[in-house]
Formats: sequence, structure tokens, C-alpha cells
Amino acid sequence: MPALRRPPGPKGHFLLGVLPEIRAEDVKFATRMAREYGDVVYFRVFNIPTYLISHPEFIEEILVTNHRNFIKAVYLRESRRLFGDGLLTSDGETWLRARRVGQRAFRHDHIDTYADMIVRYTERTVAKWRDGEARDVHRDMMRMTLEIIARILFGRDLADDIEEAAAAINVYFEHFAERFGLYVLPDWIPTPGNLRYRRAMRRLDEIIYDAIREGRRSENHRHSLLGGLLSAQAEYGLPASDQQLRDEMATLFFTGHETTGLALTWTLWLLGEHPEAEAKLLEELETVLGERPVTLADIPKLKYTDWVIKESLRLYPPAYAVVREALNPCEIGGYTIPQGATVAIIQWVVQRDARWFEEPDAFRPERWADGSAERLPKFAYFPFGGGPRLCIGKDFALLEIAVALATILRKFTFRTVSGHPTWPLPSLTLRPEYGIQMIARARHPAAV
Ligand code: HEM
Repeated sequence: MPALRRPPGPKGHFLLGVLPEIRAEDVKFATRMAREYGDVVYFRVFNIPTYLISHPEFIEEILVTNHRNFIKAVYLRESRRLFGDGLLTSDGETWLRARRVGQRAFRHDHIDTYADMIVRYTERTVAKWRDGEARDVHRDMMRMTLEIIARILFGRDLADDIEEAAAAINVYFEHFAERFGLYVLPDWIPTPGNLRYRRAMRRLDEIIYDAIREGRRSENHRHSLLGGLLSAQAEYGLPASDQQLRDEMATLFFTGHETTGLALTWTLWLLGEHPEAEAKLLEELETVLGERPVTLADIPKLKYTDWVIKESLRLYPPAYAVVREALNPCEIGGYTIPQGATVAIIQWVVQRDARWFEEPDAFRPERWADGSAERLPKFAYFPFGGGPRLCIGKDFALLEIAVALATILRKFTFRTVSGHPTWPLPSLTLRPEYGIQMIARARHPAAV
């Protein structure tokens, strides 16, 4: 049967396409599209022809079988100011070289040494909390994971620069969300928003360059990811320019804390909303750890913790979309995808599809009980993406989330604040639009 020309989808506004609906409905828009029109949907986001793909088999074609036909799409290319030609945003030979070097730097024996450090930094965060106080858990988790990744990348604390780096990253996010879909509009016009954005990016550059210079000079760098990258580059005979190092460090600095910070935030919120799941998790921690801090050797024994994390990443995938651009025309699900079209794969949509998950919107860690994940189609659950561009930080991320969660829950649990709105705002990642206010409850009040 010849391929059909264009899949079904909404007509949209003559100029803006479906941009107004996306801005109004957020993640609900893509979900509505997939449920109304099917596994391949066409719409236009301002001037960008977009194909929403939501069937695991088609996703596998894009990310694995036919991955060479797809490059990073305009959405990510737009992020070049932050990531430069780093691992996340580059393509082709540049990407392949960076991936080899990155993989070498991320060798397992390095990651294993991070568990104790994650415990220390988490304990430092927890030590600031008081029984009964309201906290913005999102803010706390982002700050903590930023401190952890800075330590791993540069081998030292960034002290006061951390505050400024966090502020600059927030400005970047606001800028990204404002420009979403409007990439043809120039951002060099000196509007107050654009100027603020440029200032923030310049400051972030300074912080990163300073940290690289300091890291290169210091003895500590041997035990940092920066040191790992430098020696991996030397092994491959690839001398690193400051610009290349800046791009990789900026990429890892951002990807290495934003996603894990969000995963921890959404997990604490889900546990606050589901005391029965929280009780099971606490019981497991009690049995496996008793009174002592978690170590790397404990992680495989924390089965329920693992299910909770998997379920949280299913419902609130921090990197909630994988987007590509077709290099050549191809066929997906019987439809022609033209050259240059954007292909959007939204984990939020697929991981909440009732065809693969019973009661898809319910938080049920038990659904991950032994063996059930293997019965799923391969790309029904893919919070870390897949194929050659699978997340390079996956193992580290899962370790950090489990260790930090176990460390937090030994001392505190959280309850949601009634009336505080909680809604994910899709930007580059899935951030909670209003932060997440929760009440901290000390597990042993006399001890804190
Ligand atoms: C829960 C935590 C995390 C989630 C859900 C996540 C998710 C993802 C996803 C979906 C991709 C694929 C993007 C695409 O195909 O377009 C990706 C790529 C990537 N991630 Fe993660 N990530 C996490 C943690 C991390 C951490 C901790 C680091 C670094 C320390 C990291 C570094 C990267 C990099 C560099 C890439 C690009 C890899 C490449 O294209 O070769 N991520 N991540």
C-alpha cells in the first residue's frame, strides 16, 4: 500500500498553528492529540511542521533502527548558546567523538566512588531542615543536585558561584519557555528579556571557565569528571580547546543536575501524596539499613525504592520529550515524514498510555514487581531515551536518586500543602510551575 501523504491532526491557527493550544494546555495538548488522532499526528507549531509519534514500534524505528536519518531538532539547536557543541546538542562526527570521550570518563569505577559523596551532600541539605516547616522541595533538590554535580565535574565546591549559576540557569529556562516555537524571531534585539538572558549566559560562561581553569591547575582535578575528560581526550589524541571543554562541562553541569533534581522533587511529592507507598519504602529502609547511612552495596537490596523511582520516572519523566529532525523523507506507520520535518516523541504521553499501563495515571510502584517490565514493548517506557543517544548519565542518575532518597527519608518525610497548585510546566524539562511546597516532618524530632 502506498504511504499516505499526511497523518490526521488539527488544522490550527493560520499563522501560529497549534502554538496557542500548546501554551494553554501544556502536556495535556500532546496527550489529547495522541488520544484523539492516533499514533502519528500532524500539526504545525508556528512555522515548524511537526509529527507526534506515540507508538513504541515507531519510536524504536526513529531512535534505533533508522536513527541515522534523524538529527537533533530545532528545539535543541536553539539551546546552542548554553550547550555549544557539547554531547547533547551536537550531531555526526562531533557527537561521536564527544560520546567516546564521555563514555570513558563515565566508567563505572568512577561512578561507584560517588555514593559516599552523595550521602554527604544530601546530609548537608537535610541538616538545614526543621520539623514542621514548609519548604520548596523543588528549590532544595535543585540546589542539592547542583552542588553534587559541581563537585563531581570540578572536584571541588563552587561556593558562592553556585547561587549565581542557579540563578542564571533559571533565566535560561524562562527564556526557553518564552521563545518556545517562536525560534524564527531574532533574540539579538535588545529587549529587557533578551538582555537579561545574555547577561545570565555570560555569567554562566565565566563561572564555568573559571572552574575549568581552577580544575586544570588543582591536584583535585584527577578525581573529577573534568580530569576524566582530559585524560580520555589525551588517550584518543584529541587535544581539548577551552571552548570544547566549556561546551562539555556546560552540558554536564546542566543535564547532570536538572534532571535528577526534578526526579527527586517529583518522587518526594508523589510519596507525600501516597502515604501507603511511603510506609512500604520506610519499612524497606529500616530493614536493609537500620540506623546506618546507605552505601553502594545496599542499592541492589532496595527493591521497593527502585520501583518507586521507576514509577516516578514513568509519571513525571524529567526529560519528557525526545525531538528529532528528519534528514531525508521516510515512512512511519504508513505515513510519509518529509525531509526537514520535526518528529516529537513525548514520554509523558507514551508512558501514560492505557495500552501498556493499567490505570496509567495512578502511582502504583508495585506494577514494577519482578519481571513485569520485561513484558512491556521496548519503547513503552524510556525515561532515559534510547538507541545510540541513550542518556550517558543514566547509571549515575539512578544511583544518585536512590542514595539521596534513602538518605533524606531516614531523617524526614514530607506532606503536601493543601491548596498549593502543582502542575508540570514543560520547558526543556518538566519543572513544577509553582515550585513544590511541602511540610517537612522529622522522623525522630528529638534528633534534629
Ligand atoms: C533522572 C535523570 C535523567 C533523565 C530522566 C535523563 C534523560 C535523558 C534523555 C531522555 C536523554 C536523551 C535525549 C535525546 O535523545 O534527545 C538524555 C541524554 C543525555 N543525558 Fe540524561 N537524563 C538524566 C540524567 C542525566 C545525568 C545525571 C547526566 C550527566 C551527569 C546526563 C547527561 C546526558 C547527556 C550528556 C545526554 C546526551 C547524550 C548523547 O546525546 O549522546 N543525564 N538524558
